[in-house]
Amino acid sequence: MAKIRIGIIGVGNAASTFVQLLNLLKKEEVSGILHKELGGYSINDIEIVAAYDIDKSKVGKDLSKAIFAEPNNAVKLTDVPETGVIVEMGELKDPLGPLSKQVITPSSEKPVNLVDSLKEHGVEILVNLISGFAMKSSEYYAEKAAEAGVAFINCTPAIVVNNSDIAKLYKARGIPLVGDDLLSQIGSTALHKSVLELLDERGAKILSSYALDVGGNPETFSSLELRSRNVKRRIKASSIRAATPYDFAIATQSMDYVDFLGDQRDAAIHIEAEFLAGGRISIEIKMRVPDSLNAFNPLVDAIRATKIAMDRKLSGPINEISAYLFKNPPKPMSLREARENFYRFINQ
Ligand SMILES: NC(=O)c1ccc[n+]([C@@H]2O[C@H](COP(=O)([O-])OP(=O)(O)OC[C@H]3O[C@@H](n4cnc5c(N)ncnc54)[C@H](O)[C@@H]3O)[C@@H](O)[C@H]2O)c1
Repeated sequence: MAKIRIGIIGVGNAASTFVQLLNLLKKEEVSGILHKELGGYSINDIEIVAAYDIDKSKVGKDLSKAIFAEPNNAVKLTDVPETGVIVEMGELKDPLGPLSKQVITPSSEKPVNLVDSLKEHGVEILVNLISGFAMKSSEYYAEKAAEAGVAFINCTPAIVVNNSDIAKLYKARGIPLVGDDLLSQIGSTALHKSVLELLDERGAKILSSYALDVGGNPETFSSLELRSRNVKRRIKASSIRAATPYDFAIATQSMDYVDFLGDQRDAAIHIEAEFLAGGRISIEIKMRVPDSLNAFNPLVDAIRATKIAMDRKLSGPINEISAYLFKNPPKPMSLREARENFYRFINQ
């Protein structure tokens, strides 16, 4: 019997890679898994029992098929046998802008009653993987999950854990809430932060820094749409600022959609720092990473850590999980401090 029954909202690239790797791990060894076991839970203990989306290419399909439906362009790692989990119709509470319209075609199906559906499927943890632009929808799902007594992990940039009304709901219902905005395993935010921490530790003073990125997957349209709202920019900047105890000039931005990159992201990072006797250090980093593969390790760790929080009857925002595995936790901290707190929490 599964030990962790999860539902996923948003059957996009991150969900596709997640489902594929969960299946692959049942058949064979996969290189690069960070924690085969975490706090007594193996990755194989995670079972997806429900899935929701709003795109007509996904709703009504078995999850094994929906993960390969367009516009998803995550790399195919394995065939997935029929799961018996049919993607149900969620709710779209946000207007589609000119960019999101290019990657989302809403289904005309009637939305499911989410609270009833979560209860019927016995979902314990709902993992929010919907498009970043759909911020009102993410809030709605978090409220409905609380109503159903289900823990919530917000992997999107929507303000959910940082929304004090939603945080209070989870506290009152006695269930954990984790997020916001999953921190990719080796993405530009983590690399940027770790270089800044190294410079700070070794006595350099950061003067200014920027990180610019381009990508070729559907979420890139969302990031570009969010650009006008400045949300993603603020989240990344505040996450990176937490690398040092002092403030410095920082800019982060998604620049463009580059179709031939597919499910990869290119980032350019620039750092200016001063060290001994006014000597200047200038660092340029250019990186290319697979995007949705980058979500798997943090995601399976967040799910198991949330289950551990449930076992311990913890409720409301769990900062030990959020600060380590997410870009926009209620209390951001350096990578080192966040890592220490996380493992202390797991090993308690
Ligand atoms: N490395 C990563 O992949 C990574 C890292 C950090 C954060 N995230 C976040 O995870 C989320 C998913 O990323 P992705 O690359 O899979 O995106 P994606 O665009 O490939 O998939 C998003 C899915 O959500 C669906 N959707 C949109 N609005 C919805 C709604 N209201 N209800 C239900 N479904 C809805 C879309 O139809 C699509 O299937 C994004 O918010 C992204 O910012 C991903």
